[in-house]
Amino acid sequence: MFDSGIGGISVLREMVRELPHERFAYFGDSANAPYGGKPVEEIRGLTCSIAERMLDEGAKAIVIACNTATSVAAQVLRERYPDEIIVGVEPALRPATLAEHHERILVMATAVTIELDKFNRLAEELSVASEIIAAPCPGLAALIERGVVDGPEMEELLERLVGEYRGQVDGVVLGCTHYPFARAVIARVLGDVPLYDGGEGTARQLRRRLEAEGLLAPDSQEGSVEFASSDDDPAVLDLYRRFFEM
Ligand code: DGL
Repeated sequence: MFDSGIGGISVLREMVRELPHERFAYFGDSANAPYGGKPVEEIRGLTCSIAERMLDEGAKAIVIACNTATSVAAQVLRERYPDEIIVGVEPALRPATLAEHHERILVMATAVTIELDKFNRLAEELSVASEIIAAPCPGLAALIERGVVDGPEMEELLERLVGEYRGQVDGVVLGCTHYPFARAVIARVLGDVPLYDGGEGTARQLRRRLEAEGLLAPDSQEGSVEFASSDDDPAVLDLYRRFFEM
C-alpha cells in the first residue's frame, strides 16, 4: 500500500480491520508530498515507479491509498499490469449517496483529484440525486503531513477552506486519505453532518479481489504491518506509527 505520505494510513487502518491475517507493507512518499498540487505527469511518474517496485518485490496486490494518485495513474497501471490486483481509492461519493438522501454534498479533495475527468464523471452521474460541490483544499494534506490534526492552525485553515459551507451542506466526502485524521476539526467547522471517506469501501474491494483470485491469507497466518518512507528522517516513521494507532 502506498500514498504520497501519511494519509494512506487512514486506509491501512480499515484494511487491517477487514483483513487481519494479511501482511501489509506501507510506503509513504513523504519526501515528495504533497502530490495534490503537482503536475499530473510528475504524479503519474512517482506513482508508477512506486507500484512497479512493489510488484518487483513480490506484492500479491497493490493498494493506491491516495485519491490523487488513483485518479492520475490507476488506469495506466491496470493497462500495464492486467494480471495484477491493483485497487485504488476514490472520493466516497457513491457511498454518501447510498447512505441516505442528501440535498447538497461537499467533496473536499486535492485540486488534481477535482480537476480530472474521473471525478467529474462520477460527480455528474451522481448529481441526479444530490447537488455536489467540490472544494479543493490546498495546504490541508501538507499540514496533516506535518502531524498537525487539531489546534488553532488546523481550525484557521479549515475555516478559510470550507467555513463558508457550514449549514449549507448535509453531507461531506473526505476525498483525500489525509483528511480523516482531521475529522474532529472538520466536523466542528462544518457542523453536525455525516462525513464519508473511502477507506472502508477500499478495504472491502481488496477483500473481494483477493477472494476472487484465491489469494486471501489463511486464518492461521499472523497479520503484520511494516512501514517505510522515502523520507529518511526517523521521526517520519514514528509519526506513521502514531497515526496508525490514532
Ligand atoms: N492523500 C492524498 C489523496 O488521497 C493526497 C495528499 C497529497 O496532496 O499528497 O489524495
